[in-house]
Amino acid sequence: MPAKAELYRTAARVLNTLDRTGWILRYRYGDRRLLEDVILPSLDRDPAVTSVLLVGCAWYTRHYPRLLPRTHVVTMEIDPAKAPFGGERHLVANMVDIEDHVAPGSLDAVVCNGVLGWGLDDADAVEAAFAGAVTCLKPQGLFLLGWNDVVPRNGCAPHSIAALDGLEAVPVPGLGAHSLVALERNQHCYQAWRKPADEATPAQNTDQTPLKRRASSDGE
Ligand SMILES: C[S@@+](CC[C@H](N)C(=O)[O-])C[C@H]1O[C@@H](n2cnc3c(N)ncnc32)[C@H](O)[C@@H]1O
Repeated sequence: MPAKAELYRTAARVLNTLDRTGWILRYRYGDRRLLEDVILPSLDRDPAVTSVLLVGCAWYTRHYPRLLPRTHVVTMEIDPAKAPFGGERHLVANMVDIEDHVAPGSLDAVVCNGVLGWGLDDADAVEAAFAGAVTCLKPQGLFLLGWNDVVPRNGCAPHSIAALDGLEAVPVPGLGAHSLVALERNQHCYQAWRKPADEATPAQNTDQTPLKRRASSDGE
């Protein structure tokens, strides 16, 4: 096993053990607290939300699926080594290829925090990834974006992304505003959009699971 993968696997094991004692090691910055204490719990309390995709995994996001106990959560991360930080249902995948993994019209929410400008950088890739995410949302599904409006993270600012054009700007769950800078230092901004209600879904999803195939829990 490559050294990085082994390091992450060990870190995840130690952190998960600590988590079980109730001592959750996490970032204490205001932007993280807002996401973890307000936005994700608000999303979970919404009775209309039953399926959520969380994109991008790291040691400090490993507990995010547990912040959404009511919902069917799938995590997605391009780096196979970070799979131990994903949830029980985890996809090792590039968000650009989201439609290869997630059924169209199957998700109530996509949470894409810290991915735009953090690996998802190329304008064409951003368009493909976000258009794919919109396709995978149910009508009225929520696209929640966290991004940093600082160089070099802001090469593709949301207002320039055509895939978001057809969506309605809505308040971020729990925040009462469509756009909020959660931390001045890094201009970490949360924004939310809703897919139109009347947009035809390419396929009816009668299944409970949004996955096209079984997700792996350990990076395949
Ligand atoms: C800054 S980190 C953490 C993101 C995490 N969602 C958060 O809340 O902070 C960004 C992560 O996004 C992943 N990532 C970058 N581009 C991606 C893509 N196209 N598809 C899936 N994951 C991607 C990176 O590998 C990295 O682990």
